[in-house]
Formats: sequence, C-alpha cells, structure tokens
Amino acid sequence: MKFDTPATNNPIDRGRVVGLPHDRIDGPAKVSGTAPYAYERHDVAPNAAYGWIVGSAIAKGQIRSIDLRAAEAAPGVLGIITHQNAGQLGKGNMNTAHLLGGPQIEHYDQAVALVIADTFENARDAAELLRIDYAPERGRYDLAAERGKAGVPQPGFGGDPDSKAGDFEGAFAKAAVKIDQHYTTPDQSHAMMEPHATTAAWNGDKLTLWTANQMVGWAVDEMARTLKIPKANVRVVAPYIGGGFGAKLFLRADALLAALGARSVGRPVKVALARPQIPNNTTHRPATIQRIRLGANRDGVIDAIAHEVWSGDLPGGSPELAAQQTRQLYRGANRLTSHRLAKLDLPEGNAMRAPGEAVGMLALEVAMDELAEACGVDPVELRIRNDVQYDPEAGPQRPFSSRKFVECLREGAQRFGWERRSAKPGQIRDGRWLVGMGMAAAFRGNLVAPSGARVGVDARGHVIVETDMTDIGTGSYTILGQTAAEMLGVPLDGVTVRLGDSRYPVSSGSGGQFGANSSTAGVYAACVALRAKLAEAAGFPADQALFEDGLVRLGNKSQKLGALAGRDGLWAEDRIEFGDLAKRYAQATFGAHFCEVGVDIDTAEVRVRRMGGAFAAGRILNPKSARSQVIGAMTMGVGAALMEELTVDTRFGFFVNHDMAEYLVPVHADIPEQDVFFLDELDDKSSPMKAKGVGELGICGAGAAVANAIYNATGIRLRDYPLTIDKLL
Ligand code: MOS
Repeated sequence: MKFDTPATNNPIDRGRVVGLPHDRIDGPAKVSGTAPYAYERHDVAPNAAYGWIVGSAIAKGQIRSIDLRAAEAAPGVLGIITHQNAGQLGKGNMNTAHLLGGPQIEHYDQAVALVIADTFENARDAAELLRIDYAPERGRYDLAAERGKAGVPQPGFGGDPDSKAGDFEGAFAKAAVKIDQHYTTPDQSHAMMEPHATTAAWNGDKLTLWTANQMVGWAVDEMARTLKIPKANVRVVAPYIGGGFGAKLFLRADALLAALGARSVGRPVKVALARPQIPNNTTHRPATIQRIRLGANRDGVIDAIAHEVWSGDLPGGSPELAAQQTRQLYRGANRLTSHRLAKLDLPEGNAMRAPGEAVGMLALEVAMDELAEACGVDPVELRIRNDVQYDPEAGPQRPFSSRKFVECLREGAQRFGWERRSAKPGQIRDGRWLVGMGMAAAFRGNLVAPSGARVGVDARGHVIVETDMTDIGTGSYTILGQTAAEMLGVPLDGVTVRLGDSRYPVSSGSGGQFGANSSTAGVYAACVALRAKLAEAAGFPADQALFEDGLVRLGNKSQKLGALAGRDGLWAEDRIEFGDLAKRYAQATFGAHFCEVGVDIDTAEVRVRRMGGAFAAGRILNPKSARSQVIGAMTMGVGAALMEELTVDTRFGFFVNHDMAEYLVPVHADIPEQDVFFLDELDDKSSPMKAKGVGELGICGAGAAVANAIYNATGIRLRDYPLTIDKLL
C-alpha cells in the first residue's frame, strides 16, 4: 500500500482498541523471567560455548604480533579468532570501523580476538594470557583541539551539512537584541540495560543469530556482507531486547565474532560484552561544540538565526546533526546552519536517542532563554511569538503536516503553574535550597520508513501478526496487536503478535522514533489486504463489510472470522510505502518541557523537584506506553543535563569512565514527579494511523529546561554540559 495522499476516515478511527492504555502484552513474560533474551537461548542453541572479546589496548596503530600459545593451552579453551585466522571479511555499510580489528587498529577496545571456551570463566581467564604486541601511533582525540581542522562532511550521512535562507550576517548585524554564545555537549553512552549480546549457531552453511538488535533487516544485510555469504543463509532472531537507544541499530562485534567463533568450533557460541567493554568497543553519541546566534527585535521576534555545529568521528564517519531543529522550530527570514566534522580516533560516534535534536536542543533552548531575558519577554511567550506554521527555510508552500506547538506551550505552562515563576533569578528560597523554574521547547523530526507485515486468522478466529519489527522495551508488541485487533474487530487478547525474526516481513525496525507509526501502518496495510480476502470469502463487497465482535457483517448478515478462515487459516501480507507526503509537508513532533529545581546553597547540589510536559505527536496509539516512553526520555534528558559524560583521555584516546559506577545516569529517586500530557491530535499526512513518533520527543529539550531552571534558581548561566557541581561553585 502506498501512502501518498492524506488519510481519510478508516477503521482505526473507531478507537475501540487503538488509543486505549492497554498494559503491555509482553509484560508478564518479561517480569516473570520467561522472555528469552539473546544470551539465554539454551532452549534453541543447547551446548553453547562461551566467547570473550579481547579489545585493543591502543587507540591507533598496528598489531605487530599475537602470541596465542599460553591462551590456547589454558583450561577449557576451544579456539581463538583473530584477524589472522578469521578469513577474508567484507565490511558492512553501517559501521565506520571494522568490527574485528587487526593488524590495523582504528580505536581503543576495537575487538582484536575472541577466546572461546567451555565456560564463560575459562574464556575470560584465557583472554588474560593472550600476548599482543602493538606499535602505537599518534591519534587525534580532542574535539576542541581539532575543531579548526574540521571540514564539510561527505554526503551520504542522511542530511545536508549546511542550510541557508535570506542574509543572516546582514540581518544579525542590524538586530536590536543579539545573542551569540557557544555551548558544548560531551560524548555520551547509551547505557541500555541489556548489553550487546549474541548466540550464534550454524547448520551447514546456514547461520542463525539470536541477537540484541533494533534493526533485524539491516542485521541480515550486514552479516551477509561481512561474511560474504548469501542473505538467504542468515537468519536473525530478536524477539526481546533490553533497551537500545541506538546502540543496537547496527551489527556489532558480539554478533560477528559469535558467528565466526561458532563456525570455527563447530557448536553454538554466545558472546556478550561486559559492561566496561561497551563504551569503547561500541558506538556512542559524539561530543559537540555549538555556536548559536539569535538576532531579534525588542519584542523578541527573531529575524536572524544561526546554528553552527562541530563534532568529530573516525575517518569516514558522520557528523552529529545538532542544528536540525534550528532549521524548523522558529521563525526568522534570515537563517544559517552548518555542521563541520573533525577527524577523531576515538571509538565510533553514531546515533543515540534523538541524534541531532537531543543535543541541539540543549543549546538552542538555553539560547532562547537567554534571548527571553535580554528582551524582558517571558520564555513561554517568546516561543509563542516565534512560532511558524510552515518550514521557515522553504517558505509557506511547505506547511507542517500538523504543529500544535503553541498549544503545548500554553497547556504545559498552565498545568505546571508557570505563572508562579519569578522572572528574576535567585529570588526563591526553601530552607537550604535555592528554587527555580525553567522551560524549553520539545522538538523532534517525524521520520517514516517502509514497513511490512503478515496477518492471518485461524479457524478459531484468532488473529496472528508477524513482522520483523522489534520491541526494545517500547511497547511494539502491544500497539501492533491493538492495530490488528482494531482492524479486524477482535479484542486485544484475540491477537498473537510475533516479532523480531527475519523470517517475517521486513519492517521499519526500531529507530529514529519512526518505529511505532511506521510498523503499525505496515500492519494496517496487511490488515486491509486480509479484510479484502475475508470479505470476499463472505461474499460481501470489501468496502462495505464491517469487522466487529469477531464477525464480518453486512447489514443484518454476518459470518465468523474463524469460519471464513477455514482449517488452513487465511493470510495476507503487505507493506506500507510512503510516497512524497513527507517531502511536501514538514513533519515533526512538538512539546514543551517545564522543570523546577532546587540548588543547595552551600554544596550546589542540584535536585530536580518536579517536571512536566505537554506533547503533540499525532494519534497516541497507547497512552500508557507512550507516557512511559516520554517519562523515560525526560529522565534521560535530566541525565544529559546533570550527569552523563564520557570522559576522554586525550593522551591515549579512550573513554575513562566506562562502567555504571562512573558513567552516571539518573534513577527513579532523582526524578520525584513527572507530569506528561498529550494533546489530542490526528496527523492525516503521517500515515493511515494518523500517528507520529513519540519515543524520542521527550528527551529533546528536557535537559535545557533543567539548565534554565538552574539559571532561574541561581542566576548562574551554564553552557557546558553536564551541569555539575564544580561548574556552579
Ligand atoms: Mo535511535 S538513536 O535511531 O535508536
């Protein structure tokens, strides 16, 4: 089904199952420990051996020699994979560095060996006995030092490095009120709960990978490319995934080495990264330096807006598109954005939850707070004055598909009690605490991606959904089940959802907050095809048949789904393809964040006291799982504001704080109260579901609201994240 005109009224609009706050249907399996994750597939891959990844001890240079003898002689060792015996490997399209390094080393902790043994402990012990001799070379590890050499990124990373409209420099020079500031954000780690993990097994020349991966279709492609085997010989299975945040968008070393290891020792092999291996062996969100210039009149109306971004990555890598939101969020006839990329020899930078906006909004929304103060305009009112209903770079001929930004600002302010804020900083005391309120916009682009599904009805009238879509803890199982239930007129418990297997139709996968809207639209398309088959079997015109109560109805005639499906069942498969609606309309999700903090008058400890937000993201498919996504993302925004930072050792080129003891993330106790409110909205240009993404929106701007609240509490303006105590004293 091609979606290239706005959606009209359709069965989803009935809202009998879709749009209700159903509990997650995968919840009981998860909390009872019966949902099998990649590393625990004893059921399907018995007798697995254990692999331990050895990472490079240098960041850049060459392996001179590897002495395997002591490790090979250690108890229980079955084999050791290195670049010397792995055979000729291809390279996938998604990774910048090779997943198995050597002799050339591209980054610290790049996998250089897999030690396989009968037990996990034996594999890890033997790994200590490997003797690797390195010839290190000088590397580049400091973004600030390399910024001057940053260049225009190569095309092909999924965006334009630059954009321009009007005459920014001229308009900025003439502006009555100017803001010109630099902001920095650090490298960050995804810190998802389940580490990268894979169990691999070969059956002849056929490989099965049970692996933690957000994108099953990509994983098949990348593995086939890397091993130089046909795609048809690779099966990827990922029914349950313990968080991703972008860390599992790509095939990683655990998967490749498990496959190579299993082939070499002739039995299944499982490999998981230990927590301290994750930050340096895998990808991370790269640090940024951002310059923002805003030129406005005395009423705060923006005439000139510029956002320039510097980030770094390995040669051949991609920039952090932190100016994306600045292209679309606020008015101003004179505009400029740019992204420059420095070459760094740190581990690979790549997507982490809301790549681009998550860190771009940390800068832009503090700059807006600075502009509000400079103009003496309330920060909510400032944003309302600068709203624009069309893509401000393209002009009025490219409107937003839907944009309830102003409504979010008003609703969020009212719910939070924003009118009680003191415009002047440093005025409110509560015992030892200086108390302040801050706010920020929320903005995240709304991407869509093609997505396929297969839907069937069995003889009992039970509905089955199959798609390779993943559920990374987001609620995919539930919303896909709700979609099929709504379309076919059965209750939610009349649907079984099967996900995460490359034997099922290729879906959008989970990424870029496109998964929920795209994959439910794929199930919608398959259901439309199945409804046609069922109606035909009933002898009813497809466009007049009603599907409800497990029946297909026409007037006072009806037939049971199960009877129509017959003994063999009835199946249909289709795929939603998105036409050019997303080109004709700017598509994004919007919101407003509010935060109240306390700052200890002596120690400068910052505590978030409460947060609130109002969000507009099209049809909310399941208010319960959507709320969970947003409160999780807001919490991650607090982490970005106050805690999260991979500290770079700029001498040796690695992230020093590579475990959960030293890479800090917020816990429940750090966030006492979060109020999340969704505005009613249907977006008929986003998909037949009239939904948009919501999984990443909540992180975008949340940290800036914290920063602005700290300013309101203390009068101290911080522009370098994270906003730690040392910067406030
Ligand atoms: Mo997201 S960073 O595309 O998983």
